Amino acid sequence: MTTSTDFVVNRNNLREGKFVDTALPALKPGQVLLQVDKFALTSNNITYGAAGDTIGYWKFFPAMEGWGRIPVWGYGVVMESKCDQLPVGERVYGYFPISTYLVVDPAKVTPMAFVDGAAHRAGLPPVYNQYQRVAGDSAYYAGRENEIALFRPLFSTSFLIDDFLAENDFFGGRNVVLASASSKTALGLAQLLYDHRKGQVKVVGLTSKANMPFVERTGYYDEAFGYDDVAKLDARVPTVLVDFAGNRKIVAAIHTHFGDQLRYSCIVGATHWENLAHGGSLAEAERVHLPGARPTLFFAPDRIVKRTADWGYPTLHKRIGDALTAFAASSKSWMRIVEGRGQNAIVKVYGDFIAGKTNPAEGHILVLWLATLGSP
Ligand SMILES: NC(=O)c1ccc[n+]([C@@H]2O[C@H](COP(=O)([O-])OP(=O)(O)OC[C@H]3O[C@@H](n4cnc5c(N)ncnc54)[C@H](OP(=O)(O)O)[C@@H]3O)[C@@H](O)[C@H]2O)c1
Repeated sequence: MTTSTDFVVNRNNLREGKFVDTALPALKPGQVLLQVDKFALTSNNITYGAAGDTIGYWKFFPAMEGWGRIPVWGYGVVMESKCDQLPVGERVYGYFPISTYLVVDPAKVTPMAFVDGAAHRAGLPPVYNQYQRVAGDSAYYAGRENEIALFRPLFSTSFLIDDFLAENDFFGGRNVVLASASSKTALGLAQLLYDHRKGQVKVVGLTSKANMPFVERTGYYDEAFGYDDVAKLDARVPTVLVDFAGNRKIVAAIHTHFGDQLRYSCIVGATHWENLAHGGSLAEAERVHLPGARPTLFFAPDRIVKRTADWGYPTLHKRIGDALTAFAASSKSWMRIVEGRGQNAIVKVYGDFIAGKTNPAEGHILVLWLATLGSP
């Protein structure tokens, strides 16, 4: 019998986390046992927890009553297989719990990917149920595993927001204000806008005072301001807000400052996660009446469904992959990968994100099982 070690957090208090052991039943025909290898941890994963009840992130990897398993993006290796198409030793990329093992029920297996067809995952957004087989992934190579784990889910969102805004001619906006400008998803969008939409829009970052020098150093923003300086933004210019912070006071201050000049308000994230805790939700932002354009939630999985229908999945995957290659190369000037191994490292990095103590110039790659980091 296999025992999995799982990191679980109190669903009512994300500050409380612990490791528990769970005995896994023997595999059923068709099932595969994956050992969870390395994974990335960023604010995005904290948002999964903070929005666990409202968006349903707790449903992916069930835990005991009152506790949840925060999903992360990373790699797994087939350790035991009752599925002929997925042999032992095969490496896959996808959505995992912070655990040593995960049992999946592969369905729709192709040389590129498969879907976890487990009953409890049916009905959840398809992007989270799909696992890429790294041997068949055109956008993978071993030397870039860490960057892929860190950036692929975040930068895909950056790419899709850039694509969505450009498709709509930026709703007439000439400035794009990115709140929580030091977050990796914002940086991906900023780089795409700065490098490819020059002359069309100006890229304006809004961040905490401590992260101002970092944001300026990335070189992706035309201008950067602190959260206390919303009044200094040029309200004469038609503007689009893309909010990654989820801080209601800041969003309200921007809407009030710009009034009708705010042409679009795109609600993406909540790095300031406590705004979502205790039953709050990102969707609530849509219901608050504010001056200017009505805040509208951007949910990347929905846009992926649309662009997959428009372009086909291989084209979408390649376009994101090509753009990600350029972003990952450019990130070397402002981010270093920090690797951590074992329970203490995970607890420390998780706690730092919860407390808002992380350094935006670092990208965290973690391993729970005790083996050498970096070994595919
Ligand atoms: N809607 C979607 O489909 C979608 C898809 C992908 C990501 N997202 C969201 O986008 C957001 C960014 O994610 P990410 O992984 O890119 O973030 P990240 O790189 O980990 O962001 C780090 C930054 O977030 C802020 N921050 C982090 N923890 C904080 C805390 N406890 N209190 C206050 N500020 C804190 C700080 O930025 P500042 O000082 O600049 O505020 C920090 O530098 C997340 O909320 C994520 O869920 C949404």
